[in-house]
Amino acid sequence: MNYNITCIPGDGIGPEIVAAAKKVLVKTANTYGHHFEFKDILMGGASIDVHGIPLTDEAIADAKAADAVLMGSIGGDTNTSPWYKLEPSKRPEAGLLKIRKELGLFANLRPALLYSELSDACVLKKETSDAGFDLIIVRELTGGLYFGERKTITENGVRKAVDTLTYDENEIRRVAVKAFEIAKKRRKKVTSVDKANVLDSSRLWRAVVNEVAADYPDITVEHMLVDNCAMQLVKDPAQFDVILTENMFGDILSDEASMITGSIGMLASASLNETKFGLYEPSHGSAPDIAGKDIANPIATILSAAMMLRFSLDLSKEADAIEAAVKKALKDGYRTGDIYTEGTTKVGCSQMGDIICDNI
Ligand code: IPM
Ligand code: MG
Repeated sequence: MNYNITCIPGDGIGPEIVAAAKKVLVKTANTYGHHFEFKDILMGGASIDVHGIPLTDEAIADAKAADAVLMGSIGGDTNTSPWYKLEPSKRPEAGLLKIRKELGLFANLRPALLYSELSDACVLKKETSDAGFDLIIVRELTGGLYFGERKTITENGVRKAVDTLTYDENEIRRVAVKAFEIAKKRRKKVTSVDKANVLDSSRLWRAVVNEVAADYPDITVEHMLVDNCAMQLVKDPAQFDVILTENMFGDILSDEASMITGSIGMLASASLNETKFGLYEPSHGSAPDIAGKDIANPIATILSAAMMLRFSLDLSKEADAIEAAVKKALKDGYRTGDIYTEGTTKVGCSQMGDIICDNI
């Protein structure tokens, strides 16, 4: 079969990790008799440098026309990059938020699991890492603080900034349904994370999640406050199956969840709308400090490509093959710098891509 994939290499390490993932996709296509037609679009700083804005209408149209979108990372050093002298709506991150909104990608799936090969790189206590964990964060992606009204004003000579956290019940319900559907195919437990002891938006969140839960009698639902969840993730991550949460909490908890797997360089993600269409990106950022040095870890992007095959293209056998190829590379002792431990073989970004290709 032929598939059209729009790629967003982006900024920083983005182009290197997307190049590695494309190689893996090409090898997979050749092995299984498919063809992937790639089209690159600009987003973030790369688009600002050419067009003056982080995302053009043409780029959005190219993304919409594809079967799926594969992204690297966007953004630069917020202290030194000239992109951050622009007004906020013209900065790199505005491009990412815009594409999420334009494509209606309300559900962000971020699986975090501990590869036994990486238990030495895991920052948790040995008995906790020995117990292992396999959880997935379902993060609401097009609402909440990220998209609420915001302003910065001066009142009586005092500067003041306002961000608004809004959710309506439909936004909560559709992402909750996704989480319960995912839980159905896993260990049948949803932990909904909120701050219902303080926030109205969280109290509505909890009420709507309970309404959705009534349609899923086989699934255990529990509610957890976000501060407690942050603690439980390092104390006992094995208790979690599906974590469902709003945009900002999900942003923060997913970085934490990735770090307990050994490195943020391992965490893939899928952003989905109501159809099979999705945008797939590593959960990590553009790491401008190591860009262009061929030392970044491409695994999160390669695993995101595997998620793309599974969720958007219905190629689950091929997705399994990529995941197995990643596992084999780790088992054979190959590591990029972020997951390197003594006794393993340190490789660069491109070489890690080649090794994974060879395993397919
Ligand atoms: C992420 C990133 C983005 C977010 C940034 C780059 C806007 O941190 O995908 O987690 O906060 O959503
Ligand atoms: Mg983040």
